[in-house]
Amino acid sequence: MQPLSVVVLAAGRGSRMRNPLPKVLHPLAGWPLIRHVLEVSRGLGAARVVTVLAPGADAVAAVVKRLVPDARIAVQDAPMGTGHAVMAARPELLAEGTVLVLFGDTPLLTHETALRLLAAREAGDQAVVVLGIAPPDPTGYGRLRVEAGRLRAIVEERHADEALRREGLCNAGAMAFDAARLGVLLDALELRADKNEYYLTDAVELAVAHGWSCAAVPGPWQDGLGINSQRQLADAERVFQDRRRDALLAAGVIMPAPETVYLAADTEIAAGALVEPYVVFGPGVRIAGEATIHAFSQLEGAIVEARASVGPFARLRPGARLGPDAKVGNFVEVKNAELGPGAKASHLSYLGDATIGAGANIGAGTITCNYDGFGKHRTAIGAGAFIGSNTALVAPISIGEQAVVGAGSTLTENVPAGAVAVARARQTTLPARAARLRERLRSGKGGSGGAT
Ligand code: UD1
Ligand code: CA
Repeated sequence: MQPLSVVVLAAGRGSRMRNPLPKVLHPLAGWPLIRHVLEVSRGLGAARVVTVLAPGADAVAAVVKRLVPDARIAVQDAPMGTGHAVMAARPELLAEGTVLVLFGDTPLLTHETALRLLAAREAGDQAVVVLGIAPPDPTGYGRLRVEAGRLRAIVEERHADEALRREGLCNAGAMAFDAARLGVLLDALELRADKNEYYLTDAVELAVAHGWSCAAVPGPWQDGLGINSQRQLADAERVFQDRRRDALLAAGVIMPAPETVYLAADTEIAAGALVEPYVVFGPGVRIAGEATIHAFSQLEGAIVEARASVGPFARLRPGARLGPDAKVGNFVEVKNAELGPGAKASHLSYLGDATIGAGANIGAGTITCNYDGFGKHRTAIGAGAFIGSNTALVAPISIGEQAVVGAGSTLTENVPAGAVAVARARQTTLPARAARLRERLRSGKGGSGGAT
């Protein structure tokens, strides 16, 4: 393959989103839109990645720099169209090979489709190759004018006649250019006075006028789904979810109601894992084979190892790690905490900033008090320890291996291995006193709580 420059256009106003958040930072499957596009460029092994941003788009620049540290940022000083945006990137482009222009608001383009564009560009030494799609609702897309099998022009919808609007493939936005000829085409773009924009799409007609060959590569319409509104963002989310669910099912994940399971772009679930209905995955989750994620659980930044069980109604937050055969049951929240092999917290607990040894049993209602209003502190629970129900562990604290903590304890001091610790008020029992107490209460003599 020839040297590849990828240009990601993200300097548009995004005004149709009706939200001050930059369009390309809106989330799709837990990733900002632009990350999906940057992942494609990474997958293609681009020698140069240039992102075109509006002035002052520091939040977007920071995301780009974090994801692709050697990406170049080009600033388009005014939003004067897609052609103008590529002009802004021009000084950063490699002079040879292919320049692939992608839109930051078109996040569903797959690696395979992008590869097909590049292959078509190089195999036929085309000046321009465009991805053509037939979406169910073509409103807003430019149309490809193809004559005798050759791409002649891209016509924006407003300028297309009835027949072309009806029959023409839509311009998905992704375009591959011969780097050596791109400059000539950019120089020739004319300002569209009605919109005060330079259209990148005009490059096709200009290339044809030079006698250069251009081609349209048809692709799945989903790949070119452009996001201009919250509605379209939600539509893209549905497409993305369906694709990922299908991929996981095909790979052997058991998911009886896939349409109720929400995945992040990077969710990894191994074959043989069971995901029950209504489970939501945030970014950064890895589930091993034979693990079970019961219904209504939410997981983010968590690792679940073989045969471990989560939920129903469990929440695993970033840094949660469940060892093999570990169990986190209903209404348990785990954050930045590791449960060793076979450790169990079956009900109603908060385990934060903790290390829990193999086989430890965490009783219902156990809380790690990790936050004192200023800093976070760790709790360490040794292997085989038993923590009685309704225990508050005031961190920093460590409970030794095989130790037993009595129910209802509030512990502020370490418990050595093998010890029994109880920290609660001693129980007082007064045999046969109940009748006398009632008598006093009935006669109105005893104040409440004053009976004993
Ligand atoms: C564009 C295409 C249209 C195509 C559609 C596919 C043009 C003239 N039209 O229309 O043929 O069917 O995409 O989704 O190219 N951008 C900049 N700077 C600008 C303007 C836009 O960086 O000055 C970026 C935007 O951030 C966006 C992309 O370019 O990522 C597309 O811009 P947008 O305004 O959404 O173009 P469409 O009207 O959708
Ligand atoms: Ca668009």
